[in-house]
Amino acid sequence: MSRYRSTVFVMAVLVWTGLLLTPLMRSSRVAAQSQASSRWWSAGDGRTLPATLDYINPDGALGILNTAGPIETKGHPFFEPIGTNGRACVTCHQPSDAMTVSAASARERWRETAGKDPLFAAIDGKNCPNLPQDDPASHSLLIERGLIRVFLPWPPQKADGTRIDPEFTIEVVRDPTHCNTDPQYGLTSSTPTISVYRRRPSRDRWSPSSYMSSVCAGSPVSSMKTPPLASTYDFSFAV
Ligand code: HEC
Repeated sequence: MSRYRSTVFVMAVLVWTGLLLTPLMRSSRVAAQSQASSRWWSAGDGRTLPATLDYINPDGALGILNTAGPIETKGHPFFEPIGTNGRACVTCHQPSDAMTVSAASARERWRETAGKDPLFAAIDGKNCPNLPQDDPASHSLLIERGLIRVFLPWPPQKADGTRIDPEFTIEVVRDPTHCNTDPQYGLTSSTPTISVYRRRPSRDRWSPSSYMSSVCAGSPVSSMKTPPLASTYDFSFAV
């Protein structure tokens, strides 16, 4: 993935307001609704991602518009499993959640798979890797807040692993997940690490500086425009 090789595609996500709901949208919303189980895109599903797709949600509806047309996800690096834990990019970047992952979807996924979905991998789909894997409480930040553990070495390092001398120190003031004070995964471990819990913003709290590469191993480029009645993201990436 980090070789920036094969594919680039641009996906615009439109978050529709109720005012924009046309009869046409309503019919495709019904289609999306009637396939409740296909709401979740698993790694290696092999389905075709249509050029437009609408999902109903408690705030109204959310539509995906892929300006490049439909995508055959079979063989596509964004949709095929990467590495050994069965995840693909789509595992955390779900079309029905505006290309991010919501707490509601994570909860639903926990229920449907009894916590076995690759989304809940111990490394970052859990509050801390050493917590009991089968206990939903161990994944509370993901299933209650939609957050993924992003773990970073401290002091920070450059991409080649050389140390960056920080201009400040970090103290743990409060550590509800116990990960930052964990003897194996925390700040005082033999490989000092800080854990922060994040997700890609799904609407207008987008910030270019929020990119991270340790989780995504991609080369993200994004931009955002905000027309009056809809929020539009261009979700662009090279893999
Ligand atoms: C384990 C879950 C997970 C997986 C798998 C994952 N991502 Fe992410 N992605 C995230 C999180 C969390 C963020 C937000 C990071 C932050 O704010 O620090 C993010 C952010 C991004 C962004 C920035 C989006 C924006 O609008 O700011 C892009 C682009 C992206 N990921 C692409 C990818 C690609 C390509 C892959 C596959 C190679 C991938 N991601 C796999 C969790 C994941």
